[in-house]
Amino acid sequence: MVTAGTGGIGLETAKGLAARGYAVTVVGRDPGRGARTVEQLAAVATAGRPGFLAADLASLGEVRALAARLAAEGPLALLVNNVGAMFARRTSTVDGIEASFAVNHLSPYLLTELLLDRLRAGGPSRVVNVTSGAVGLARRTFREVEPPGGYYGFHWYGRAKLANLAYTLDLAERLRGSGVSVFAADPGGAATEMTNGTLASPAIVSPPLRLLWPLVRRKFERSTAGPASSAARPSLAAATDPALDGRTGLLIGPQAGVVPPYRGSTDPQTVADVLRLSRRLAPLEAAAEAARGLDGISNAP
Ligand SMILES: NC(=O)c1ccc[n+]([C@@H]2O[C@H](COP(=O)([O-])OP(=O)(O)OC[C@H]3O[C@@H](n4cnc5c(N)ncnc54)[C@H](OP(=O)(O)O)[C@@H]3O)[C@@H](O)[C@H]2O)c1
Repeated sequence: MVTAGTGGIGLETAKGLAARGYAVTVVGRDPGRGARTVEQLAAVATAGRPGFLAADLASLGEVRALAARLAAEGPLALLVNNVGAMFARRTSTVDGIEASFAVNHLSPYLLTELLLDRLRAGGPSRVVNVTSGAVGLARRTFREVEPPGGYYGFHWYGRAKLANLAYTLDLAERLRGSGVSVFAADPGGAATEMTNGTLASPAIVSPPLRLLWPLVRRKFERSTAGPASSAARPSLAAATDPALDGRTGLLIGPQAGVVPPYRGSTDPQTVADVLRLSRRLAPLEAAAEAARGLDGISNAP
């Protein structure tokens, strides 16, 4: 399964998987776009039928519903958490949570946790979480959803990606020996909806970087000039490279090879704070409660 798989890097990842014989299901918000994607995937698929599931991954309720649907379909061999977004202005989700943190970290966190049983059943299986070089500019403070100080979209995006990377590498350790391998993949950069829509204004970076905006913008333009198909290579390597069989907890860099984890992503305090915050904001018990409620309904006379 590939989240945000109807456009950008996710679509190219899904196409690569379909061509390699995976029966890929993609997730996106727009059913029309989903139907067109299924046609594109069917055209390159070498085995298995592609599918589409609609979900807005900015909503924790929709993440829970998606996980329940997928769990009902049986074992899962591959989960690519590709969804990610940068917000030019501070935005809240339907759950009242700051959107960068919700979409880039909480949503993939919750989906992965809710599908762990299915991934164990599908083992040897892999989880691939898509990260970003933007973690390098992140503030490492995770006691609360929002860091103190002003909102700067690029930095808050990087901070949410850092939370997710810290979670990813810790999850790999917790699942070691379970048959589920966990990788992070950094696409480098590509011209996509996300980069076209958000990297245009100095408002997305902090005031010191704004002073250097012409330089910063040129760096953004250079690093996001390539095609999404090239940026999908790290995710595809993390998902399929046989050289990674039996390995886990690795970061696959923009050149599709293993690179050292980014600064701060293995810091024990960061990991502990991210886990505590994630469990508070997206409690797993809520899903169990909902499932018990559904049982009650389906068992009613
Ligand atoms: N592009 C880069 O330079 C770059 C660099 C580093 C890391 N990354 C990371 O790579 C991943 C893919 O990035 P991208 O640039 O390909 O992004 P993108 O162009 O914005 O991705 C578009 C896809 O995301 C889906 N999507 C967006 N919001 C969604 C939501 N709330 N729920 C469900 N689906 C949603 C879209 O479908 P609908 O609109 O139909 O929902 C579409 O399938 C992200 O994790 C991003 O952070 C990208």
